[in-house]
This record gives sequence, C-alpha cells and structure tokens, in this order.
Amino acid sequence: MNPSELIKKRILVVGANGMLGQRVLELYSSNNDFELLATSVEDKLVFENIDYVQSDISNRNEIKKAIYDFCPDFIINAAAYTNVDKSESERELTWKINVKGVEYLSDAARVLDSHLIHISTDYIFDGKDGPYTENDIPNPLGYYARTKLASENTLKISGSRNTILRTNVLYGTAKFSRPDFVKWVVDSLRAKKEIRIVDDQINNPTFIDDLVQGINKVVELRKEGIYNIGGDEFLSRYDFTIMIAEFFKLDKSLIKRIKTEDLNQPARRPLKSGLITIKAQSELGYKPHTILQSLELMKSELGL
Ligand SMILES: NC(=O)c1ccc[n+]([C@@H]2O[C@H](COP(=O)([O-])OP(=O)(O)OC[C@H]3O[C@@H](n4cnc5c(N)ncnc54)[C@H](OP(=O)(O)O)[C@@H]3O)[C@@H](O)[C@H]2O)c1
Repeated sequence: MNPSELIKKRILVVGANGMLGQRVLELYSSNNDFELLATSVEDKLVFENIDYVQSDISNRNEIKKAIYDFCPDFIINAAAYTNVDKSESERELTWKINVKGVEYLSDAARVLDSHLIHISTDYIFDGKDGPYTENDIPNPLGYYARTKLASENTLKISGSRNTILRTNVLYGTAKFSRPDFVKWVVDSLRAKKEIRIVDDQINNPTFIDDLVQGINKVVELRKEGIYNIGGDEFLSRYDFTIMIAEFFKLDKSLIKRIKTEDLNQPARRPLKSGLITIKAQSELGYKPHTILQSLELMKSELGL
C-alpha cells in the first residue's frame, strides 16, 4: 500500500443521493486526501465511480454493518425524512428515519470514535422572534420539526463525538435532484406561470455549497457542538423570489404575494425565523456567498 494512503481520512456520506448528499460527494470525490464511501436507501448511487453500499438508516443492523465495515473517521448524515407536510400523517416513518436513524449512527460513531456531522433546521424554533442563535430555546411547531429537535437531543446524550449544523431554506444545484426553489421559480416564470409566494416567512436562505463549506470546515477543524449555517441576507420568501426574477430578467408581475395561512398546509411553519451565523463565522471561518453571487454560480453551472 502507498504510505500516503495509510493516513487518508475515511468519510462516510449517509443519504448520499439527496440534494445535500450529492454536493458533499462532489466535493470529497475530487479530493485525494480522503477515502470516500457513500450510502443511501436506494439500490444505486446517482454517481458512477464512487464506492456505494445500500443501507437504510432506520434499520439498525444494516446501517451499523455499513459503518463498522468501513470504520470511518467522519460520518456525514445528509439523510432525513424531509417532507414537512407528509410527516404530519407519516409519523412513525418520520420518527424512525429522523430520530432512530440518528441514534443508530451515533451508537456506531461512539463505538468507533468516529466524528458524526448531522444537519438540523431552524424549524426547531417557533418563529416568534427570530433570527436565532445557537443558544435560543427551541419550540417546534410541526412533527418534522419535533423529530429534528429530538435528533439533536439524541446526539447530545449519545456520548459520541458530534457536530450539529442547523440550516434553513437550502437552494442550489444538485445534478440529479428535484429542482430546488430557484430553478422552480425560473422554470415557472419562463413558462409564464403565475406563482403565489408567501411574504410573511423570513429566513436567510442558504446556498447549498455554503453548507458544504461549513461541513468541510468541521472536518478540517474537528469542531464539535452546534453551529448555525445560513446566508448573509435575511428576507421574506417573496423578496427572495423577486431577487431571483430580477437577476434572471423575468416577469415579476407573475409573482403574487400571499400569506402562509392562505396555503392551509398540514404543518405549521415558523414565520420570523432564520439563523444568526456569527459563531460559525468566528469559530469555523465560515463565509457565505451573497444571494447574487450564488445566483451567478447557479447560472453558469445550470446554464439557466
Ligand atoms: N432542504 C432544506 O431546505 C433544508 C432546510 C433545513 C435543514 N435541512 C436538512 O438538511 C438535510 C439534507 O436535506 P436535503 O434537502 O438534502 O434532503 P433530501 O434531498 O430529501 O435528501 C435526503 C436523502 O435521505 C434519503 N433517505 C430517506 N430515508 C432514508 C433512510 N431510511 N435511509 C437512508 N437514506 C434515506 C433520501 O432518499 P429518498 O429521496 O429516496 O427518500 C434522500 O436521498 C436533512 O437533514 C434536512 O432535514 C434541509
């Protein structure tokens, strides 16, 4: 064996076929300092030429076997049940994936002394007085949000080495994923479709590559604890949509303002929310792109 291979760090990406999972794989598969293994619930990985094992994080034996066989230095958990509205009626499944799955990952991480990096959300807050710091008191409004808070609590008492990155409103390019919010807005407006967008949900939308940057900083610095990862600009979803339309020179008159309560969604959403990222900026050296820089990158990458 080549001596440099002896010191390669091993990274296991869980939920590798999802939007975040794909972007994390793209970063580490082009970096020779790491030995990479991907796992997810589907029988195949969307990328070729990356080692893959199929495993379901809600199946204790299956996921533990995948972890023990690889013995990773880092486990990056990008897997979750992410359908916020459906989770209200699919409670058992949501709990199994978002809470029990994280418990199995952290059990294995503790045994192997692996560092588990987990992704959480600003939905753990009620949105009465955001934006939030890492120390604010959670009060989740819906079932998905409750499971994400429970996943954080599971990690806190697990005895494993772990980092929780809380994020909100992810946007960006993932080659094989469903369209993100930006692409959906661009496609709809180009097709001259009217879109109804809430103007009472405030966040700091997060460019997906900035979340990947945050994950990579944790890998480099081995920092543990909770960090907020988000964009620099706090704005309503309506104003975000207007920015997208202006950037891509599309017809803004097709964007109609509505209120969250008009949507009658099964899960309640936090309204005045978003995440303050000063801790990540000072302790991790995290530096987010502006929305305009992110849109520029998406434009060239997607050919939008
Ligand atoms: N997207 C956002 O705006 C946002 C905001 C805040 C926080 N987050 C958090 O960020 C993380 C990544 O989200 P994302 O947007 O990348 O989600 P995503 O695209 O839905 O990806 C989640 C992945 O997990 C996989 N998965 C589901 N059940 C699994 C199981 N039992 N075992 C293994 N894999 C399983 C999914 O597979 P299937 O598709 O086949 O089910 C999917 O590939 C999640 O923890 C999410 O809660 C996201």
